[in-house]
Amino acid sequence: MNLKITVLAGDGIGPEVAAQGVRVLQTIAARHGHALECHDALLGGCAIDTTGEALPADTQAQCAAADAVLLGAVGGPKWSDPKAKVRPEQGLLGIRKALGLFANLRPVKVYDALIDASTLKPEVVRGVDMLIVRELTGGAYFGTPQGRSGERPNRQAVDTTPYSEAEIARLMRMAFELARGRRRKVASVDKANVLATSRLWREVAHEVAAEYPDVQIEDVLVDACSMYLIRNPLSYDVIATENLFGDILSDEAAMLAGSMGMLPSASLGEQMNRHGFRRGLYEPIHGSAPDIAGKGIANPLATILSCALMLRWSFGLNEEAAAIESAVERALADGLRCRDIASPGTTLLGTAEMGAAVLERLA
Ligand code: IPM
Ligand code: MG
Repeated sequence: MNLKITVLAGDGIGPEVAAQGVRVLQTIAARHGHALECHDALLGGCAIDTTGEALPADTQAQCAAADAVLLGAVGGPKWSDPKAKVRPEQGLLGIRKALGLFANLRPVKVYDALIDASTLKPEVVRGVDMLIVRELTGGAYFGTPQGRSGERPNRQAVDTTPYSEAEIARLMRMAFELARGRRRKVASVDKANVLATSRLWREVAHEVAAEYPDVQIEDVLVDACSMYLIRNPLSYDVIATENLFGDILSDEAAMLAGSMGMLPSASLGEQMNRHGFRRGLYEPIHGSAPDIAGKGIANPLATILSCALMLRWSFGLNEEAAAIESAVERALADGLRCRDIASPGTTLLGTAEMGAAVLERLA
């Protein structure tokens, strides 16, 4: 198979972790007889520096022409002046929207070897295996009006959270379909006791649920969900929720797994690539970590695991995806750690060394 991938390495640790992901893809492609074509393009702060725009037209065109996109991370203090006209994050939101990637899948799996990396008790996190399905192209991230007006002491700002029933229904359908391949439980998370969009969300969620009588649906208020996530995370299978709630809950859930550096994500839409699979964007859930950028110590595993998701979702290469996931699991079982997940008695590795350790374990 010919795998045409656009790589948006981005800012901060983005290029360091993306490089390890590409290495793993190259090895897998060579081993399984696939032709890998990677093209680099600019997104975020590096794009602003070069072109003045966070999402240059050329980058958008390259992503649209690729089968899948691999993204490192965007942003950093250099571009975070609140008065700045362009922000790196606009590039990320822009490419999600431009490619129609309405569903963001964030699997949260607690590896046995990493139980001690979590700040929670082992009996609470052991065996956790959930999937957060976050709506990605609607809600407060894209609603208008958004902005600021007035001068001191009358400054004001507004954000708007619109959701249409079509946006909710397609996200819930995706969640139910995915639940069918898992434990058949969907928790639909909202704030229906306060927000009108959440009341619509709940109504539509139940209409879609009627099409999936074999899957159980439960409504959970987002504040309660944030508590249950750390009290009894084992009770969750699929969590489906709107953009902002999904952003917040997935960082919280990352702490079950020990570190943001472990969590991959897949963003999917309705568009298919030329192989008949969904065109997708794959990225670690962590950010650009400017404090450790350039030091070669960032954990590349979230990015490497994102590459596994890419092979599965955008190319249907399940065997290759599983090979990457088990290589990661073996590296962890062998006591290899990056700084974010290190514990006494384990071996501390840098970014490239961890990439190499995974490569060695790719059977
Ligand atoms: C994420 C990030 C982004 C988001 C930021 C960088 C815009 O936090 O992917 O979770 O809020 O979606
Ligand atoms: Mg986030």
